[in-house]
Parts: sequence; structure tokens; C-alpha cells
Amino acid sequence: MCGIFGYIGSKPASSILIAGLKRLEYRGYDSAGICLVENQELFNCKSSGKIADLESKILNAKLPQATLGIGHTRWATHGEPTEINAHPHFDCKKEIAVVHNGIIENFQALKSLLEKEGHIFASQTDTEVLSHLIEKFYSGNNFEKAVQEAVEVLEGTFGLAIVCNKEQKIIAVKKGSPLVLGIGDKEIFVASDAAALISHTKRVIYLEDNEMAMLSTDGFAVKKFDGTIIEKEIQELKWSVEQIEKGGFEHFMLKEIFEQPQAIANTLRGRLSSNGVKFSFTLDPCFVKRIIILACGTSYYSGLIGKHIIERITGIPVEVDYASEFRYRNPLVNESDLAIVISQSGETADTLGALKTAKAKGAKTIGIVNVVGSTIAREVDAGIYLHAGPEIGVASTKAFTCQITALILLAVYLQQNKDDCWVDLNFLSQLQELPNQLQEVLSQAEKVKNIAQIIKTSTNALYLGRGTNYPVALEGALKLKEISYIHAEGYPAAEMKHGPIALIDENMPVVFLATKDETYEKILSNMQEVKARKGKIFAIVNSDDTLAKNLADEFIEVPFAVDLLSPIINVIPLQLLAYYVAVSKGIDVDKPRNLAKSVTVE
Ligand code: AGP
Repeated sequence: MCGIFGYIGSKPASSILIAGLKRLEYRGYDSAGICLVENQELFNCKSSGKIADLESKILNAKLPQATLGIGHTRWATHGEPTEINAHPHFDCKKEIAVVHNGIIENFQALKSLLEKEGHIFASQTDTEVLSHLIEKFYSGNNFEKAVQEAVEVLEGTFGLAIVCNKEQKIIAVKKGSPLVLGIGDKEIFVASDAAALISHTKRVIYLEDNEMAMLSTDGFAVKKFDGTIIEKEIQELKWSVEQIEKGGFEHFMLKEIFEQPQAIANTLRGRLSSNGVKFSFTLDPCFVKRIIILACGTSYYSGLIGKHIIERITGIPVEVDYASEFRYRNPLVNESDLAIVISQSGETADTLGALKTAKAKGAKTIGIVNVVGSTIAREVDAGIYLHAGPEIGVASTKAFTCQITALILLAVYLQQNKDDCWVDLNFLSQLQELPNQLQEVLSQAEKVKNIAQIIKTSTNALYLGRGTNYPVALEGALKLKEISYIHAEGYPAAEMKHGPIALIDENMPVVFLATKDETYEKILSNMQEVKARKGKIFAIVNSDDTLAKNLADEFIEVPFAVDLLSPIINVIPLQLLAYYVAVSKGIDVDKPRNLAKSVTVE
């Protein structure tokens, strides 16, 4: 997810672009840049790091007082977050500049074609293909037509703002990524979301997919990609800036919980083919005798689920270790080991330490990371980026479900490249069904909110699950602990009778993961044991399961999924439960006490 901003009017564009990008910084913050158009020439300034770094660089640059320009703050998807990969990107003659939010899925094929035609690329990004593609169709006086022809051959998602040295206009193009126009008095803005517009104007036009807009100081025109002119209604913004940055949600955490269907679709995007899984790296699983998963916190819990997934699909034995424990015990590791390192931030000190320990002892390493270009992402031998977009809330939510998705993809990839290759294509199609199933669970948010009112006065809680639902219980308990400050413990359900059952009474809420799988009957018995001791049962159950519903005091219904996929569904109500309990206690959910989004200390 990146932030795009464009301005055309009568004021100096540079400071307006920087202010707009700052409003969009939460969408991506690893590099930034602007391009100005003056006297038929393009002037640009780019920098890695935050927008403040770009701002100080601009102070020393010899940029003109142009009144037309575009800007971009990046969340890297292809190519490290360096200055050269920062947007805008240019054609060979520096007559075209493009800023882009989204992923061009067919960029490799287009890049090879353009290179064969003599185009020279400067960056590793997918975006740069756009500027050279427009150049291919541009003949010096057909800017709009050249853009139209270029977007016709693109596959993937793109929100674009494009300028050309010879024309006093911005062309905005939308397909799959958001773009909104701000209509001022003899000035027009384009941005990734209205947060960047509201300080200039409340009159906005939301572009729809397959629409492009031509913006100039004389006004604007909106067309379909095929050139059909469209009349668009100007809307009046009602939100505050803060509300807009959160997409209308009260907190980033809630926004990120609701983003999970799209985030999982992004993790899957471009990696599923008709006969299996493809990655940008190649890995021969035949050398792998053992897999070690290393991580901390929520990422460790997704690793526990990864053990079930990888062992079941590949037959390769998997160990999961807390990174902090692994790195200090002089672990037994050798060249036949594959270490999978999981980290949303890619900066967790203990995880980085464990990675270095595993590498030093001869293991091959793979990283499952969200932040592109992060330290861990650069340290591993090969990587799988989540493409989940920035996770701003301290409590990890969409990263967890996307990590499980990535582990499934990796397991299938390993299996399909083994000698005894088989790929259960039905399983892969169930995987693609997940985003729709998550929407179904998210529609029960109000019911979870009501249940939260019952739990919010508790001082303790137990989360119980079996099999792949045991790590879900651990994750649900962590969510409640870290944002509501209620002590909660995740436990294997069968282990309850070996001690924790002494805690059960009418004041102890017990959250059961009770969806149908191999151990479903056993979970029902565990629920009976809690009920017999007056424990309050809150259960996650399959929609058609009256038995479990009758045993629960409160329940949330979720669609059925096989046990390797059900954790991605079953964790959603637990994320929402922790969120609503914390909100009802008046806690700052996005910044809970004592915590940081990235634990770079040991
Ligand atoms: C999760 O909600 C916590 N914020 C924390 O446990 C986190 O998962 C852990 O610090 C690991 O972070 P990482 O995934 O960025 O390495």
C-alpha cells in the first residue's frame, strides 16, 4: 500500500505535495519522492526513509516554483526501499513520470519486451515498466492516448498519477487501488485517500475501477479506459482527517482486522498457478531433512500452525522455537536444516539473532516478512513477502493470518518440488475461498462486541484449543492480554485437567475453539468438564453445530474449513473480542502500554 498525491493549480506545488504525502505516510513510509513540471521539463527529488528526509533534501535541491507536480510515499513491494526504487519513475527521455500504488502482475514480461526494444531501466520496481510503456506509445502529442494504450496491457492493480513534460496536466488512472480527486477553486488534487485532501477542499470525486481522469487548471474530465466520457458527481467530505486515515474505522487495529480478506488475497496474488505454487526464488527441498521455524510473539504462534501445515503436506519434520531461546542454547543445526524465520516487522532483535545463529551453523534460511527491505528480509537466503500492507496497530492481526497463508504456500511449494510430488489442487481452491469466508466472520462483529461487554470485567481468562486450534488459543489469549491488560492464558484443551481446571469457577471465562476437526468430540468433553464446574463458556463453533452451541453460554459461528485452514478463520472473532474488550475499557488500542510495534531490543 503506498500514498500518491498530485497537484495542479496556481500555488507552488512542492510544499503542497510534501504536506499531502505526510497525510498519507501511514500508508507507506520507507521511501518517497516528488516530480515537478516546469517549462516543458521534469524536475524530481527522491529519498529513502521518511518524508521528513525527502523534505530536507528538497530544501537543498534546485527545484523550480512549479505549480504542477506529483508525489509518492512508498510501501515497497518489488525492490528494496532505496532512493533509486523510490517513485516517481521515468521513461528513457525523462518526458514521462509515474507514481503508482498497487502491483503490476505482468511486469516481468512487459519489462523483458521493453528491454528488447531498447528501453533502459534504472530500478528494480514493477512501476518503472509503466513509464517506459507509456513512452512506447507516446509520439510527442498524444499523452492521453499513450496512457490509455499502456493501461490496456497491464495486469494487476494500479492507482496512478502521471505527468508529461509537454503538457500542463495530470492523468490519474484507477484499477484496484484507491484514487480520489479533490476539486478546489482553479486547482485540482489527486490522492490515494481523502485524508490528504481535506485541508484543501471537502469537494471530492472517487474514481471507480477502469476510469482515468485528466486534470488541469481548466477543470477535469473522467473517461473509461476505452475513452467513453463519464459524468461524475462531486461529493462533500463529512469525516475528520483522523477518521479518513483510518478508513472510517476508530482504530488502525480494527481497520487491519477488516483488511484481512484483501491482505490474504494480496499474499496469494501471483503465487498460485493452475498446477501449484510459484515463488520468485527456487528452493530444492530434497536437501531438507528438518525445518526449524524461528519467531517471537504472534509470529511464533503462526509458526506453531506452520508445523502442522508443513509436516502434514510435506512429511518433513518441523521444530518451532522461540527465537530468544534458540539463539542462546548453542542449538544443533547443520546443512540439512532449513530455517524459516517469521517476522512482520523484519526488525525483531531476537529473531534476527536466531537467524544469524542458524545461518552460522549451516542452515539455509527463508524469511516470511511483511516489511520489504527490512533487516531480516535482507539477511535471509530467500524470502516470501506478505504484501499485507503496513500494520500500524501494535497488536498484530492481518500479519498473523497472512503468515499462515504464506506457510501454506511454502508447504505446497516444497511438496510439489519433491520427488514424491503431489499437489491437492482442491486444497488450493479452498485456500482461495478464504477471503470470502473471512467476510462472513467479520459480519458478526456486532455480536462479538456484545460478548466483549460480558468479559470486560474479568481479571482472568482461559483460551482452550486442540491441534491447529491450540496456537489459535495462544494467539487469542495474547491479543486479550496485550491490549485489554486482562490476564489470559492459552492452553491445549486436554491439558486443562492436568492443573488449570482448578481455576474454573463462575468468574472464569473460558474461550473454546470448538470447530469441527479430528479432535472435535474431545473438545465437547472438555466443554462439559468446564460447564460442570460453572465455568462461563464462550465458543467459536461451526454454523451448523447445535451440540457445541448448546454447551456454550455464548458462541460465535464461523464457516467450516479443514483444520489446516481453520486457524485463519477462527482467529478473527478472537481478534475482535480483544479489540472490543479493550475499547470498552477505554484503552488506546493502537498503542497499548509498555509495548512497541517492533521489538528491536533483546
Ligand atoms: C503481537 O501482537 C505483538 N505485538 C508481538 O508479539 C509481535 O508479534 C512480536 O513482537 C514479533 O514481532 P515481528 O513479527 O515483527 O517479529
